[in-house]
Amino acid sequence: MEPYSLRGELCELTPFNPADTQRVFDYCQDGEIQRWVPVPVPYRMEDAAVFTTSTAQKGWGGPGLVAERTWAIRQLGPDGKPYLAGAVCLRPNPPGASAEIGYLLAADSRGRGLATDAVNTAVGHAIRDLGMRRVYWQALVGNWASRRLAVRCGFKVEGTLRSQLIIRGVAADAWVGTILAEDLASDDGYWTADGRVRLWD
Ligand SMILES: CC(C)(COP(=O)(O)OP(=O)(O)OC[C@H]1O[C@@H](n2cnc3c(N)ncnc32)[C@H](O)[C@@H]1OP(=O)(O)O)[C@@H](O)C(=O)NCCC(=O)NCCS
Repeated sequence: MEPYSLRGELCELTPFNPADTQRVFDYCQDGEIQRWVPVPVPYRMEDAAVFTTSTAQKGWGGPGLVAERTWAIRQLGPDGKPYLAGAVCLRPNPPGASAEIGYLLAADSRGRGLATDAVNTAVGHAIRDLGMRRVYWQALVGNWASRRLAVRCGFKVEGTLRSQLIIRGVAADAWVGTILAEDLASDDGYWTADGRVRLWD
């Protein structure tokens, strides 16, 4: 499928491109990203180049139901140009019904609601446009910034799965949570018989 973009209230979600490599390299030096996200450590310029030219691109290559959608979170900078603030992705699992959401922000872009806006935009797209019934989140136990964000966006934390995630070869417990189509529908729209959510007119 062709990569496409989404628009939030504070940010745009657009595909990554090779020009993002330096900024990805810079923000992945952050200790919080290296602690909570399974990026290579140390994080090298080659890792950033592989991400922008391959990892973030190849997921789009599959058919619509299975395509893993990775977007750059871009905020508008003071000069009016989009500025790379982080990443958000949707990984269908199982395809057509559900997707996992993943996200991160550069340290200098945190604390302004950008990730909240990006996650709300991606979740709304998954449920309203792609017809998914459920989006799920998982984070290493102890990642309170990620958990606060998920809860702020309407995810219900449902528990802890033991040895759920492998981070740099080590199994670790994960918090998990979900947001269902009806959680959005109650505010903004309604369920239809085919299990999709339609916005109120
Ligand atoms: C998880 C992560 C993306 C959260 O970033 P964040 O800056 O807290 O998220 P937001 O951009 O949505 O900002 C929300 C914060 O800004 C504040 N804020 C300011 N303006 C806001 C607005 N307009 N809307 C919402 N929140 C706003 C909120 O109060 C909140 O602060 P709080 O958590 O202290 O209450 C970030 O900590 C991160 O990248 N961590 C490392 C990578 C990581 O752990 N990824 C997740 C793996 S599961």
